[in-house]
Amino acid sequence: MTHGGEQRQYGPLGTVLVIIPTYNEADNVRPVVERVRAAVPEAHVLVADDNSPDGTGKIADELAAEDEQVQVLHRQGKEGLGAAYLAGFRWGIEHGYGTLVEMDADGSHQPEELPRLLTALRGADLVLGSRWVPGGRVVNWPKHREFISRGGSMYSRALLDVPLRDVTGGYRAFRSETLEGLGMDDVASQGYCFQVDMAHRAVRAGYHVVEVPITFVERERGDSKMSNDILAEALWRVTAWGMEGRVRKLLGRRHT
Ligand code: GDD
Ligand code: MN
Repeated sequence: MTHGGEQRQYGPLGTVLVIIPTYNEADNVRPVVERVRAAVPEAHVLVADDNSPDGTGKIADELAAEDEQVQVLHRQGKEGLGAAYLAGFRWGIEHGYGTLVEMDADGSHQPEELPRLLTALRGADLVLGSRWVPGGRVVNWPKHREFISRGGSMYSRALLDVPLRDVTGGYRAFRSETLEGLGMDDVASQGYCFQVDMAHRAVRAGYHVVEVPITFVERERGDSKMSNDILAEALWRVTAWGMEGRVRKLLGRRHT
């Protein structure tokens, strides 16, 4: 299954579903949903809430009651970003959406930039909002976060042979066919390495992945859920995938 990229014909995008995972985003969920609805009025929104103790899920229910293009997926408890997105993707595919977008709830991924991602998706299988391509940038991000993020992308690129600048970012637009082709059923990544996992799968499957520059704006309200556990999971999984790939290559060479 290799896709040629530019010379290929791409089908219509279908209806767009913006999936917004939330855990304790009570101050952020309303503004971000309203900004999405204003920036891309035809898009639908799915808030995937992990039973946030701060009542985010209830605010999301109010938004859904006010607007038929907003829905809420209530999940039992905090299971990580990866699990929330997988549940959201499955929900979206079951409901017939043609394009599935990932977006953080905290305003870091500006809804006003979504039209540019969607335009790029007309000629691609997957679009990544990228902080680390020319034109991309971060605003108000602490130096140590930028270091971790750039380092994470560099490490992933080197170990996994993915020719991408921002491998860990979470502002993305997928065609539903791309998601279906990635084999979502055996994705085990729970935390932010889910993003690396999906990018790696897309490249390996031969999909045409395009990076579009974005301006990532650090949140003003609430707290990041980044933790040492999430970092550790990313480090060991990326290392394991890298080793696996190398071993497979070596064995392949020996047998041919
Ligand atoms: N449902 C659910 N469950 N949502 C979660 C969970 C979870 O366990 N953990 C985090 N989220 C949600 C947050 O509520 C937010 O909407 C989004 O996921 C991103 O979480 P943040 O905690 O704001 O992430 P960040 O700003 O530190 O991380 C940024 O960098 C990461 C690494 O580059 C984002 O761009 C991430 O998307 C990116 O992977
Ligand atoms: Mn954030």
